[in-house]
Amino acid sequence: MSNRFTRILITGATGAIGGALACHYARPGRTLLLQGRNAEQLEAVAQRCREAGAEVLSERLDLCDTEALLAWLERVCSDAVPDLAIACAGMNINTGPQQAGESWREMEALLALNIRATLALTNDLAQRMRARGQGQLVLISSLAGYYGLPVTPSYSASKAAVKAYGEAIRGWLAGQGVGVTVVMPGYVASPMCHEMPGPKPFLWQPERAARVIARGVARNRARISFPFPLNFGCWWLAVLPAALSQRILRWLDYGG
Ligand SMILES: NC(=O)c1ccc[n+]([C@@H]2O[C@H](COP(=O)([O-])OP(=O)(O)OC[C@H]3O[C@@H](n4cnc5c(N)ncnc54)[C@H](OP(=O)(O)O)[C@@H]3O)[C@@H](O)[C@H]2O)c1
Repeated sequence: MSNRFTRILITGATGAIGGALACHYARPGRTLLLQGRNAEQLEAVAQRCREAGAEVLSERLDLCDTEALLAWLERVCSDAVPDLAIACAGMNINTGPQQAGESWREMEALLALNIRATLALTNDLAQRMRARGQGQLVLISSLAGYYGLPVTPSYSASKAAVKAYGEAIRGWLAGQGVGVTVVMPGYVASPMCHEMPGPKPFLWQPERAARVIARGVARNRARISFPFPLNFGCWWLAVLPAALSQRILRWLDYGG
């Protein structure tokens, strides 16, 4: 079913999950619009995708520069609006080894990327896809979006925001030819995941995550969350009384 996508935009294509998604979708007849900041890594991913037969247009861009982001979208959409767009770029920070807390400077950078850039991109493409009556938007949230983790307050808040926004615009765009999927991964091996404190049960490789995401996206699933045991546990944290969830997180060594 994912064969219907011919023009695919992926942000964070230089990262573990974004790169795996780019390689997963790369095949003849497809154009991939790949964004990253690391030039060497961007070229390496683009080359792998070209070897798999895809046409690749890559863009080095800091997504926190909203004007540059919107100008890039204007440029790529002047040829044709992507029929699939995956907002995958993101960053994480934490309260530090002594739990001293997050720095405001880092929090601002995180909010600018995880929320502002994700919403700016999604809103822009949603309107273009809606005008065309066709498209699929994918927002990468996290299981941390169900219930705030004490070691990553801003990250958890940003992923909850992305989850809520994706769910809301799915309703707005329903019946207009535009699908929206919110992805909530657990731990997936990547530099970001490696730097995060705390245990990392049920760690997946990015290729496996990409396969599961692509399968759900092809069916326009509202939510793709994995792996099952961690997803179930995190979902419960959101449903249980907050005081009990806090205690469970402390028992499990996630602080709080
Ligand atoms: N890995 C996990 O366990 C996990 C779990 C849940 C959710 N997620 C989410 O999955 C997504 C991908 O994460 P990942 O694990 O693949 O992380 P990653 O390997 O660290 O990749 C992060 C990506 O974001 C890009 N990026 C960072 N700051 C940027 C900025 N200011 N402007 C433009 N691009 C920027 C990076 O680009 P450059 O490297 O080129 O700078 C890179 O492509 C993120 O949204 C993350 O929150 C990950």
